Amino acid sequence: MKAIVSDLKSIDETRQGEAFYMPDIDEVNDINLKRFYIESYGCQMNFSDSEIVASILAESQYHPTRDIEKANLILLNTCSIREKAEETIRKRLRTIDKLKANRPGTMVGILGCMAERLKQSLLDDEKLVDLVVGPDAYRDLPRLLNRAEDGDKGINVLLSREETYADISPVRLESNGVTAFISIMRGCDNMCSFCVVPFTRGRERSRDPFTIVSEATHLFDKGFREVTLLGQNVDSYKWQHPETHETYTFAQLLEQVARIHPDLRVRFSTSHPKDMTDDVLHAMASFENICNYVHLPVQSGSSRVLALMNRTYDREWYINRIEAIRRIVPDCAVSSDIIAGFCTETDEDHQDTLSMMAWADYCMSYMFSYSERPGTLAARKYKDDIDEDTKKNRLSEIIALQRQLSAEHNARDVGKTYKVLIEGDSRKSDLEFKGRNSQNKMIVFPKLPGFKPGSYADVFVESANSATLIGRIVQS
Ligand code: 5AD
Ligand code: SF4
Repeated sequence: MKAIVSDLKSIDETRQGEAFYMPDIDEVNDINLKRFYIESYGCQMNFSDSEIVASILAESQYHPTRDIEKANLILLNTCSIREKAEETIRKRLRTIDKLKANRPGTMVGILGCMAERLKQSLLDDEKLVDLVVGPDAYRDLPRLLNRAEDGDKGINVLLSREETYADISPVRLESNGVTAFISIMRGCDNMCSFCVVPFTRGRERSRDPFTIVSEATHLFDKGFREVTLLGQNVDSYKWQHPETHETYTFAQLLEQVARIHPDLRVRFSTSHPKDMTDDVLHAMASFENICNYVHLPVQSGSSRVLALMNRTYDREWYINRIEAIRRIVPDCAVSSDIIAGFCTETDEDHQDTLSMMAWADYCMSYMFSYSERPGTLAARKYKDDIDEDTKKNRLSEIIALQRQLSAEHNARDVGKTYKVLIEGDSRKSDLEFKGRNSQNKMIVFPKLPGFKPGSYADVFVESANSATLIGRIVQS
């Protein structure tokens, strides 16, 4: 996740415009080597899926490259959550088409949510696409590639009720060697009325906890010091042992991962207000290495709008969940996702969202204006009746308020000392490190001998700009 202000500034860009490039791990200058290049768009789950895809492609002797011009296979792992995300991909495809003119034989594949949503039409309309592969069909890539190499276009968009890629060991891409993501479940059963995810990622299923713990242990042994457990709705994680029928909840999984080592930090995302239990909060309070940070998207502060969104909680329920966080994990930071201008939203509803934000005192939010997605419950049932100007104005007010809340958070942190996990050099200087505290806030500070990425440091916060905290290491 990026620093706070860049989240505020870019809104959609942070999740949609950011491409993720693989390292060119193959330095051998062999022109016969098959190389693939992958860009990921959208949520963390897509970035994590690209690491699974890299592992599957290794079976077909495809080596990663960071240089798109060297690639025999170009893959875009796509997002459909808002219309703008799909427009970005279409634009990117046109640029790639030009590049392809100089490199005949280069194959182009669309993976992820857009592949799932648009299916065959991607092959029919976008002549430059050779492969269309949905999120549950990545194991079929070697077969589809074989066909595509022979000139046949390949498509597999079958959704599965079981696929979790549990046995696949992801190839860590563009890794800092300190922090990693682990998918613990796939799909979503929630059917929020605005959301296309249940259609593109299918039914919810949880991954076997033993493979999750083993992946996290392996990462720790390789020097990683933080894992983020990923799912669309981690609180509904549930796995039943096929023989003993023993069930594992998310709180139990969290504890198991936290027990691997006290120096392994554990984060998780995303929590759903209707499902976030006190058990999870108690696990956070009991283990110092489970970070004090919850991403708890509210979407709207108005109970009327929440009902139309089919979020299955109301304002009071949400307030109760935040109160539980404050009671059980007192220094926990909370962030949110907010949608401006959902169908029928009145000024009063919008004011409810602003007052909710101020009350919840979010440290950070992802903020969007509503984008109608074909096939969703909202698209079928409600009119997208808030005009673009009103959406834009409301979104601006939401962003301005969040900017103020974030600045106040930062100002309150000055003078405090935090335990920081060092992630690497700061963006501006190789004389400085950057790292995050338990509450997920980025802190920049001068390097000192004896500290390196993966070390923990106690950092005293001396000042703050709107984006980052600035401090120095204190040694006892
Ligand atoms: N329009 C705007 N924002 C959306 N989100 C999901 N679907 C839409 C949509 N149709 C936002 C929600 C969700 C986040 C991942 O994206 O806030 O939590
Ligand atoms: Fe979409 Fe709601 Fe599922 Fe999140 S919980 S992925 S917003 S349907």
